[in-house]
Amino acid sequence: MKKITAAPEAPRDCPLCPRLVAYREAVQAKEPTWFNGAVPSFGKDNAELLIVGLAPGVTGANRTGRPFTGDWAGDLLYATLDKFGFSEGTFAADPNDGLKLTGAMITNAVRCVPPENKPVGAEINQCRPFLEARIASLPKLKVILCLGKISHDSTLRALGLKVAQYPFGHGTKYEVAANGKPVTLLSSYHCSRYNTNTGRLTPEMFEAVFAEARKAVA
Ligand code: URA
Repeated sequence: MKKITAAPEAPRDCPLCPRLVAYREAVQAKEPTWFNGAVPSFGKDNAELLIVGLAPGVTGANRTGRPFTGDWAGDLLYATLDKFGFSEGTFAADPNDGLKLTGAMITNAVRCVPPENKPVGAEINQCRPFLEARIASLPKLKVILCLGKISHDSTLRALGLKVAQYPFGHGTKYEVAANGKPVTLLSSYHCSRYNTNTGRLTPEMFEAVFAEARKAVA
């Protein structure tokens, strides 16, 4: 684990990535009622499971201010969290729906919305200290579940591990260490609309990874 150099949450008006700031401001000019800021993680610090997404979707988390809330990726993610007992309440795609995560937290590798859902390497690197701090803030952490390769690789780097030694794949499982304790690192294809529409990721495949996560926190 690397030395922690940031807070676990970026300030809403985080200035670190010029391209992301410009995009955020352009969206804000068109949609002034949207959240339009660095989206904070969702869940409590007693989480045993940390889910690491990619980055806020422009009409999803960037609009609502809660990770995976308001777009297709979230509909599948929150339904699956419910199925495996990681949430309480009813998800209504709205941060005011009263949904609570139980033993889980959701964060993103990149906290601000990137154009076309594609952060560049410099932005992923710039945002990593927040991920490192987020991981360090979870004393009960047992499982990290990464959604997609960018999340997987950035999480490995946050843990001080070499990407080449832990290749990404759907359903990969590695025993690693975080905060000086053993942690299971699971990965899944990202639950994006593209991946589910093309059949690259089916709900059954996604659930199989969550079944592993449930087993590993039990
Ligand atoms: N919304 C998020 O917050 N993260 C993603 O990776 C996708 C959608």
